[in-house]
Amino acid sequence: MITKPTIDRIMEAIDIVEVVGEFVQLKKRGANYVGLSPFSNERTPSFTVSPAKGIFKDFSSGKGGSAVTFLMELEKFTYPEALKWLANKYSIEVEETVESTENKEEENHRESLMIVTSYAAKFFHESLLETDEGKSIGLSYFKERGFSNDTIKKFELGYSPDQWEAFTGRALQEGYQQEFLEESGLSVKRDNGTLYDRYRGRVMFPIHGFTGRVIAFGGRTLKSDKNVPKYVNSPESEIYHKSNVLYGLFFAKKAIRDEDNCYLVEGYADVLSVHQAGIENVVASSGTSLTVEQIRLIGRFTKNITILYDGDAAGIKASLRGLDMILEEGLNVKVVLFPDGHDPDSYVRSVGTNAFKTYIDQKRKDFILYKTDILLKEAGTDPIKRADVIREVVESIAKIPDSIKASVFIKDCSHLLQIDERALLSELNKMRMAKAKKDSQQQISRPVAVDDTLLEEPQSKEIKEDASQEREIIRLLLLYGNKMIDWDGIANTYIGPFMVAELGDVEFEHPPSKKLIEIYSKELENGLLPEEQFFIHYPDKDIVDLSITLIATKYTLSENWYEMHKILVPDEQVNMKATILGAIFHLKKHKVGKILDNLRGELQKVESEADTEILLTQYMQMKKVEKSISDYLGSVIIK
Ligand code: UTP
Ligand code: MN
Repeated sequence: MITKPTIDRIMEAIDIVEVVGEFVQLKKRGANYVGLSPFSNERTPSFTVSPAKGIFKDFSSGKGGSAVTFLMELEKFTYPEALKWLANKYSIEVEETVESTENKEEENHRESLMIVTSYAAKFFHESLLETDEGKSIGLSYFKERGFSNDTIKKFELGYSPDQWEAFTGRALQEGYQQEFLEESGLSVKRDNGTLYDRYRGRVMFPIHGFTGRVIAFGGRTLKSDKNVPKYVNSPESEIYHKSNVLYGLFFAKKAIRDEDNCYLVEGYADVLSVHQAGIENVVASSGTSLTVEQIRLIGRFTKNITILYDGDAAGIKASLRGLDMILEEGLNVKVVLFPDGHDPDSYVRSVGTNAFKTYIDQKRKDFILYKTDILLKEAGTDPIKRADVIREVVESIAKIPDSIKASVFIKDCSHLLQIDERALLSELNKMRMAKAKKDSQQQISRPVAVDDTLLEEPQSKEIKEDASQEREIIRLLLLYGNKMIDWDGIANTYIGPFMVAELGDVEFEHPPSKKLIEIYSKELENGLLPEEQFFIHYPDKDIVDLSITLIATKYTLSENWYEMHKILVPDEQVNMKATILGAIFHLKKHKVGKILDNLRGELQKVESEADTEILLTQYMQMKKVEKSISDYLGSVIIK
């Protein structure tokens, strides 16, 4: 764990404008900075940073938080990853508590391996660009394939000299340890204990991990000899788990997010060519078939995957099943097929960037419809085969967790398959039931009905209204809790404790508000008056999100936001009494209204006279409470 003093040092060093500024172009406006949201595709800037408070708020996506949360949201860093990134930016040495010596050793071990792989990347890159052999063999090969200098530099492409110990010899000479050279797979041990180079006379594709460091290599031979493997890849190691890595992801992250889509190709060369053509949201699974981990990795950035296939029919058929896995993860899958004999790399080079883009846009097809098409063509008119097709297609649809989406596909496929929609639905429900039974520990999926739309919206108007009244209380607590009351009858009292005491008999129901008011009360009990900064940096994302959203409403975060808070001018502050008491009593009235509704419901159901009597008494009492609240509201609220 990173130590508290280190975290404090990082927090002190953070300048949120600087941090966010690395990803978003910010313009100063009043006391704040604004820019285009990095989380959505907006045209008018609604993304606001307040240096005074150390927070950002994105009105288009609703996200908000501190510099740390920003990195976690945008770069999908974990909390420690975000802290380390900041520490690195501000040259702060990170102290970590040694949870166990083993952990520490493991961390050191991984670090040592990465130092070796990054040294190797540099070695191969320099061999490519600066040695005669590298230039005449490796570089000329890349040039012939159409890779630009920029691409070669960005992806740190390299060349391994055609000798037995060119790399290993140099590395040992420079003090890199045998243990790490061997474990990273860069060197291989002979029977006599000495090491030789794994990669000889190959062009090198370094593989970058999630945070951009080189963790492995793929080396392509330049020989056409069938006995020589085309690619030699790094073995699995503590820093390289093939199933967790996507080639190109580090360079594609931003574009994947911006475009809200990820192109998936097969090979290194495909990634490079497509990226170079300006389509930067592209990654490859590099030879292995796609894994669940890889899908989840993409899923952190987008829910849309478009697979760019080369047009070899056998390969396509084989991959159909693998794609169900993507559906199962809740992602949308589209497919683009290239003309026979072409892969994305060869196609973009033969037709050029614009035609390539047009082709993708026109040929993009939803995976399920595409699968239906292929299978139907294959089945021809054979009725038994057609029945198999129906089952296979519904099987795919059953993998989709979102039942609304599933029912849309059922509709589309019922046309293609020329079969009644209801028949497909019942087949789908059967499969879902069977599946739910099978993994009964997991949540049982709801059967799909055609009019499922209604069920997806459990938030009735009533509930929303209720939630927003609770949120209004929280907003006032955050903004004015530490200000003094100064109105007739009451003075020298803090607003926060006053409100909490007034609300003592009200039960909050909506999760983040409920949690926040509980925390607030607890702090008060401990003799503390929590302020907004306390909640902005609270170690619970729900609390942080709620606080930021409430503090930074669009209105208050306008040009003179900061000034406004120093000088109490906005409307609600002119009559604090009405604002505070109004909110409290509106909430109370609303809650009483709900109790009355319940009582009315029960009254309709009861049969015995005695019960009716009891309920009626309760009802009348509540009615009185409601009336007194209304009267009170009327007298206090002059607005
Ligand atoms: P391809 O054979 O399509 O390679 O394999 P490519 O990258 O398109 O190469 P070019 O265009 O002929 O230069 C696709 C991917 O499968 C993995 C590599 O990641 C490759 O990029 N692969 C292929 C291997 O790991 N080992 C192999 O022997 C072949
Ligand atoms: Mn290729």
